[in-house]
Amino acid sequence: MQGIIGNNIIKLDAVDSTNTYAATLLKNQKHPEGLVITAIYQTSGRGQMGTIWHSAPGESLTFSVILMPTFLKVEQQFLLSMAISLGLVEYLKIKSVTNGIIKWPNDVLVNRKKIAGILIENSLKGNQMTHSVVGIGVNINSGIIGLPETATSLQLETGRHYDLEAELYEICHHLNKYYLMLRTGKFSSIKTAYMEHLLGFHSPVELVKNQVKTVAKVKQVEDNGSILLEDLSGKKFIAGFKEYEWLY
Ligand code: BTN
Repeated sequence: MQGIIGNNIIKLDAVDSTNTYAATLLKNQKHPEGLVITAIYQTSGRGQMGTIWHSAPGESLTFSVILMPTFLKVEQQFLLSMAISLGLVEYLKIKSVTNGIIKWPNDVLVNRKKIAGILIENSLKGNQMTHSVVGIGVNINSGIIGLPETATSLQLETGRHYDLEAELYEICHHLNKYYLMLRTGKFSSIKTAYMEHLLGFHSPVELVKNQVKTVAKVKQVEDNGSILLEDLSGKKFIAGFKEYEWLY
């Protein structure tokens, strides 16, 4: 099947945020599904929940993909997030980084350090998705100096230097694979693979809220993104986005 993501690419030197740029494009006119907007430098890169995404120019990939997942209902929107996370984990495997895991909702970690972040901004009409801007930041050639202690990069993990443009195409290839799975309704395969790679699914994880520590395992992630956990006493609870700090 023909790929969708990355057939058309807009390459920018600098922009505030590729997600914001993509949203503006969508307001003004129609664009082909799969259009990628990439920038060498973002002056105001955005992260999840209003955080700032910093990346040194030319060291990381920062790009956004315009998708039209009209086949998903609003309550299924997290399936897109699952598919994108899995595409990134698979890309890392191809680069010989075989231990990539996903920290709910969609951070990608290697050796418990963050290597990639995803910011998906959806537009809805009634009960259906109309379009999504999928923003992705991947630390590729970043060194220790440019990164927080909690982050890593492909170069730090493999000791190699990468051509950013070639890596963008490679990532798009893996994103395409999982997006096509989604489009063809392979929801349960995507969910199973997501759970398999999820921090806290196979072994318990420590969560902290109001200075109280809980040890729990992930039982389930719903199609709408809500996560069900179970503590060591067998008590089940749902965690909201950023409600708990996950220790890892
Ligand atoms: C996160 O982990 O908090 C999400 C980070 C997402 C960063 C990417 S970089 C490209 C795109 N443009 C943005 O402003 N943010 C996303």
